[in-house]
Amino acid sequence: MSGLILSIESSCDDSSIALTQIDSKLLIFHQKISQEKQHSAFGGVVPELASRLHAESLPLILEKVKPYFKEVKAIAITTEPGLNVTLMEGLIMAKTLAFSLNIPIIGVNHLKGHLYSLFLESEAVFPLGVLLVSGGHTLLLEAQGFHDISICAQSLDDSFGESFDKVAKMLLLGYPGGPIVESYAKQGKSDIYNFPIPLRSKKQYAFSFSGLKNAVRMQIEREKESKGILSEEFKTNLCASFQKSAITHLMQKCKIFFEQNRSNSHQWKHFGVVGGASANLALREQIEKMCRDYGVTLLLSPLEFCSDNAAMIGRVAIESYQLEEFDTIYSLQTRPRIEAF
Ligand code: KG4
Ligand code: ZN
Repeated sequence: MSGLILSIESSCDDSSIALTQIDSKLLIFHQKISQEKQHSAFGGVVPELASRLHAESLPLILEKVKPYFKEVKAIAITTEPGLNVTLMEGLIMAKTLAFSLNIPIIGVNHLKGHLYSLFLESEAVFPLGVLLVSGGHTLLLEAQGFHDISICAQSLDDSFGESFDKVAKMLLLGYPGGPIVESYAKQGKSDIYNFPIPLRSKKQYAFSFSGLKNAVRMQIEREKESKGILSEEFKTNLCASFQKSAITHLMQKCKIFFEQNRSNSHQWKHFGVVGGASANLALREQIEKMCRDYGVTLLLSPLEFCSDNAAMIGRVAIESYQLEEFDTIYSLQTRPRIEAF
């Protein structure tokens, strides 16, 4: 068996470790312990609690990969972006492992990880247009290669995934809000509430979700004032109407991206949708249609690997390993925010 990369992900509320074969890119082990239940009572991730839970969960998973230690050639660790206290939990474990096994360490950008979740167990395809929708980011990217990824559009305020989390919180539906709001939306009517489409009349090539979130908040307050309670029917219709506006907004800006690409003689012929919120089936449906209309091939990650996981971090690290791009244990640091890829 060829050597292995042991990768660790702890940028938010998922503790995850994976083992990937360097030559074949085959994922041979992956486990993730999510903290959703523990954070649900708070309606969002509590950083200090998340970091304590990583300190419990990561060693439990590590125990399972101990028999493979002799074959591990490098340790990969998410270093940016994310919650600083949780990134630190993973980084300390990664440094300890690299030091004691006397092998290189590779710091990995979490967003690049999401992009490479499209290529788990396969060669990467470039050039590539990408929509990244997660709890922390909403980005349109153009990727020419491993070291050539540029941000074409980003959010001026909140992210797509976070707006779902906030709507769920306002309705007391729990955390994470994405899957819950999506399932409520499926049962409701999307034309009951006429929420604004963010930046609709603006040519601005950017995303924004704070105004839409506020419109939803005001609708909930009006309903509470007039009816006293929020019925299930109200919640399903509200979720459906909100989801329609949020997705329409994404699609309007994606259209600009696709149009630009077309006038650029189809720079990219592949388009990937990644990040936790790329699991949203209503969004997938609309992106599929847009890709068909523009003659672009759609790439999606397996549903299991849309949300945070260490497998995608290991996949990025294989590229770094093959390029012999390693970090040093002493200087590798966490960087909660990203400036660029
Ligand atoms: O990529 P991810 O696991 O973590 C970050 O890097 O942020 O994304 C998590 C986000 C959460 O905001 C979650 O509510 C959202 O993705 N999400 C969804 C869906 N599933 C997860 N948003 C909309 N629809 C979904 N089905
Ligand atoms: Zn993520």
